Amino acid sequence: MEQKRYGHFDDQHREYVITDPQTPWPWINYLGNEDFFSLISNTAGGYSFYKDAKFRRITRYRYNNVPMDNGGRYFYIKDGETVWNPGWKPCKTPLDFYECRHGMSYTRITGKKNGVEASVLFFVPLKKWCEVQKLTLKNESSETKSLKLFSFEEWCLWNAATDMENFQRNFSTGEVEIEGSTIYHKTEYRERRNHYAFYHVNAPIQGFDTDRETFVGLYNAFADPQAVMEGKPRNSHAHGWSPIASHYIEVTLKPGESKDFVFLLGYIENEQDEKFEAPQVINKKKAHALIAELDTTEKVDKAFAELCALWDNLLNIYKVKTGNDKLDRMVNIWNQYQCMVTFNFSRSASFFESGVGRGMGFRDSNQDLVGFVHQIPPRARQRIIDIASTQFPDGGCYHQYQPLTKRGNNDIGGGFNDDPCWLIFGTVAYIKETGDFSILDEMVPFDNQPGTEVTLFEHLKISMNHVIENLGPHLLPLIGRADWNDCLNLNCFSWDPNESFQTTENVSEGTKAESLMIAGLFVVTGKDYVALCHALASRACGDAIATYTTEAARMQKAVDAMIAAVKKDGWDGEWYLRAYDFYGRKIGSNENDEAKIFIESQGWCTMAEIGAEDGMVAKSLDSCKKYLECEHGMVLNNPAFSKYIYEYGEISSYPEGYKENAGIFCHNNPWVIIGETLAGRGNDAWAHYAKILPSYVEEKYQTLHKVEPYVNCQMVAGKDAFKPGEGKNSWLTGTAAWMWYTVSEFILGIKPDYDGIRIDPCLPETANDYTVNRKFREAEYEITIHPNGAQKGVKSITLDGKPVEGTVIPYSAGKHVVEVTM
Ligand code: BGC
Repeated sequence: MEQKRYGHFDDQHREYVITDPQTPWPWINYLGNEDFFSLISNTAGGYSFYKDAKFRRITRYRYNNVPMDNGGRYFYIKDGETVWNPGWKPCKTPLDFYECRHGMSYTRITGKKNGVEASVLFFVPLKKWCEVQKLTLKNESSETKSLKLFSFEEWCLWNAATDMENFQRNFSTGEVEIEGSTIYHKTEYRERRNHYAFYHVNAPIQGFDTDRETFVGLYNAFADPQAVMEGKPRNSHAHGWSPIASHYIEVTLKPGESKDFVFLLGYIENEQDEKFEAPQVINKKKAHALIAELDTTEKVDKAFAELCALWDNLLNIYKVKTGNDKLDRMVNIWNQYQCMVTFNFSRSASFFESGVGRGMGFRDSNQDLVGFVHQIPPRARQRIIDIASTQFPDGGCYHQYQPLTKRGNNDIGGGFNDDPCWLIFGTVAYIKETGDFSILDEMVPFDNQPGTEVTLFEHLKISMNHVIENLGPHLLPLIGRADWNDCLNLNCFSWDPNESFQTTENVSEGTKAESLMIAGLFVVTGKDYVALCHALASRACGDAIATYTTEAARMQKAVDAMIAAVKKDGWDGEWYLRAYDFYGRKIGSNENDEAKIFIESQGWCTMAEIGAEDGMVAKSLDSCKKYLECEHGMVLNNPAFSKYIYEYGEISSYPEGYKENAGIFCHNNPWVIIGETLAGRGNDAWAHYAKILPSYVEEKYQTLHKVEPYVNCQMVAGKDAFKPGEGKNSWLTGTAAWMWYTVSEFILGIKPDYDGIRIDPCLPETANDYTVNRKFREAEYEITIHPNGAQKGVKSITLDGKPVEGTVIPYSAGKHVVEVTM
């Protein structure tokens, strides 16, 4: 059957083009790269915030509303009796033409109705605290058009959480000011706040509204605001209730004529002693200055060109040409873009994350790092320091921290025993990319307490030690509250539906339940740590050489011991066990009735190559194919849990096939894929990879999959689900970084290392010759690979025509040509 299509890729412009506004789910994009951020759906829904989606929310949004995706930046155009929006919503007046182009940090929405075209370009200019909305109105008809234009934004009272609940206060606090074509939102500015927002348009206005009920009407909706329907603004001045910002502009367009309007949603902070220009009147100096920087089409176009140039640069660092468009567009455009968005937003704000629940994750952020470290190393460096600053002296750490304060999040606390290892993962990736070993000498505090600083290297050391010092009865790592799988809660034992599985104080003392996922992670990061110590030793002099060599030997011993423990007590015959529960019983074993096999330990123990020499790796990978794989990817566990298990916690609370209970948790598929590549099984690696590669499933699943076809989602319903293949939790997921890491380093095989670039692809037999252009530190490599039907194994490499020993091209600045024969 022909699938209905909602859009398509436009690779040349690096856009996804949505041609039907009624997508199976709002398909969104992200604006902003540093401080000011926005979410925008294909119908212009969404909201903006400054740095922190919880504590500094600028515009209001209602999640999971009826209808879906309610609230956003809306332009209403009243042309005679017809009222319409360029993005179709909220009026839903049928359009003569609709198109939404989601691009790199911008979105362009175009609608046409009765001979008028309205096109809006949304973006956040670099280094500026505002969202630009450039609206172009064009009269394509043969008659003069007199249009009434209304803009609309609804202010959030800053704290997105209390905004939704503390109405006894909120309905009395709202305050605004109006000055010319600018509407200022200054709620709570009088007391502890030193910030306000504004909504401006670079044209004279003929009216405005700032009070929501007056504009919309208490019994009307965003789809038919009274002021718009009657074509009459009320010039309302909000006091309390719900402040909004709406401009009213009368526009006359001759046939063929077009006019631009630059709308600006801005955010300003003032010094405490410069808050007011007169009693109760906010100091607007900075707002005026910001407006002046963007008050013409030319200025806005220039700012937009700068944004596009930034993306040209970011996407110029790793570029592949395989001749396979579906692969190339994911590698060159969308996967890298998603990594950057995930870096910026961590897991805070999407259509599945409300922006109030979660800060930045310790493990999440370390993993996200491998997705963008090649593009913005200085920000990766800062991120590592921020993360490490939330660690405790014993190597444990806060599970999350708030981006605005950079402080550990007390609500969730610590005790997730995989967390510390991820610091090694992130830091090693940073040093390999940049060669900047000096980061290890940075003085970094514990729990952000001044005076507690030790070097970052010391943080890495205690991270490793944290695992070694927390081993259980089988000498495997204790799991604590949970490992990567937040939902495998082996010390929680909860019968109370109001308890959170993650934050409720562990009932058991946590001295028994052990994790094979952490075991594998420890071996992988332990080997990395040993290699790092050797790299440091080779760069050191005097006593330091011995110090690093001794440290390497100490950790190698711990790694060897862990390998031995896994071989002895972590192997189930055909696959690696998942864990031991509090009572010392096996989890993820053939002996269990349900969930006999789990993906996490297969992924990490095969990445660690534990027991490869005894055939364990190959067997584990085969078992993944046999028991976990299905049409849409590999499920997390099999068979799914059909009942709640008190000793296991949240994992068994999900219906079969969803989320951590046998969903296809895309994040961990790449672990097995990397295991496949290390084992040299290129065909299998590729088959798994293609199943969760958005561009590969794009056409097949536009309706089934539901969520954005240009990015990965966290979870696709698994084979036991009611609707296998349905995607959820799109955009903000570790999947982005893992997909990138997998394809860039393990499949295409271009791997940064301390002394150069290691080349070690693992490909399907059918792979053709391909070229990767890779900027690396001060060098630029043009690497052409000739697979010759091989899945793995580099036969020879030449660098600028001269043969290279081994698989590492030694680093040297400048342009180089590399030929690789497999
Ligand atoms: C979290 C990760 C976690 C994963 C599996 C995600 O939602 O962000 O930290 O590892 O779920 O539970």
